[in-house]
Amino acid sequence: KEVDIDPEAYDAGDHESFMHKEMLEQPARAEAVLRGRLDDKFGTGHLGGLNLDARELRAIKRVKILGCGSAYYVGQMGASLIEELARIPADAEAASEFRYRNPIVEPDTLYVAVSQSGETIDTLLAVQEIQRKGGFVIGLVNVVGSAIAREVDGGIYLHAGPEVAVASTKALTNMYLAFAMLAVQLGRVRDLSIADGRRLIAGLNAIPGQIDQVLAAEPELAVVAKSLAEAESLFFIGRVRGFPVAREGAQKFKEISYRHAEAYQTSELKHGPLALISTAVPTVAIVPDDELVERNVAALHEIAARGGPLTVVTHAGVDLGDLAGKVERIDVPKNERELDPILLTIPLQVLAYHAALSLGHDIDKPRNLAKSVTVE
Ligand code: AGP
Repeated sequence: KEVDIDPEAYDAGDHESFMHKEMLEQPARAEAVLRGRLDDKFGTGHLGGLNLDARELRAIKRVKILGCGSAYYVGQMGASLIEELARIPADAEAASEFRYRNPIVEPDTLYVAVSQSGETIDTLLAVQEIQRKGGFVIGLVNVVGSAIAREVDGGIYLHAGPEVAVASTKALTNMYLAFAMLAVQLGRVRDLSIADGRRLIAGLNAIPGQIDQVLAAEPELAVVAKSLAEAESLFFIGRVRGFPVAREGAQKFKEISYRHAEAYQTSELKHGPLALISTAVPTVAIVPDDELVERNVAALHEIAARGGPLTVVTHAGVDLGDLAGKVERIDVPKNERELDPILLTIPLQVLAYHAALSLGHDIDKPRNLAKSVTVE
């Protein structure tokens, strides 16, 4: 393991940590990744660096996304976007596992390697395995000129700026936005209508301002975080689009608060983990205003009935019925439902941050972790 970022070389300014600075930079960095890449007129994305023309984009039959840790979870969000918007089968896999299972590499699959640092050894070796077998790989990479950026056949730079804190925030947000643009572009050379394309481009344009709105709630989120930090063990739950959000929320929480935070599909609770729910185990539930809202709210009742404290990350329109007033409610601004995951993720960063702060931990350099894992 190596730390490849020297915090001394950067300046956190007035912020008590780089993570705080980087979270607050997100609206500006989100604008940077979208800049020049959104076409309002034709309702599509313009990702010049892919090195694929419209005919080649149309020929893609499958998308396979590879990344580690949080990059893998954002990859899951990306896979969902691509399936929904382009109707191409897509999935994400931990890059650290990929090369060990003699993976099948197919010529009409688009492989996507996702990495902030561009130096994560497992992701780099996955890229090399794909290329050795003749596959075409693009990179979603932040650090320009990094090993993965040099290796791939095309890609999308994330323009998040230098990220120093081990807990990744702004780079992940920009990974999500890059996936959204890719999904719209892949969709628009297929059956995604111009109206839907424009609807999504307008949604993307709104995201930087909406991230700002979520961040403005930091004082209230800090209060919720302090009470969550008191628990030894927490659940983060969500389903379909919300599940990778829950995974990323749990990841951020455990990385810097050192609390046991476990992500689960809301639908799987009754198949086992409900046994662990008690007054001592809080749940952070992702409940977007989408087609699954009623099922999600029903699951909240199951948890409440067992005395489990609930924090619900949701939208203003969602009716929690008789749970209202009995749970901590965090409303995020509504976007197009396909694009909701990123706005649902932002408060989870803030919760993790303030939990770790209240516990007095070293936020930027959590124990046992490196910014990027560059050796096997
Ligand atoms: C994120 O908060 C983590 N520190 C970690 O999971 C990270 O996302 C992962 O190690 C991948 O790093 P990369 O994006 O630089 O490849």
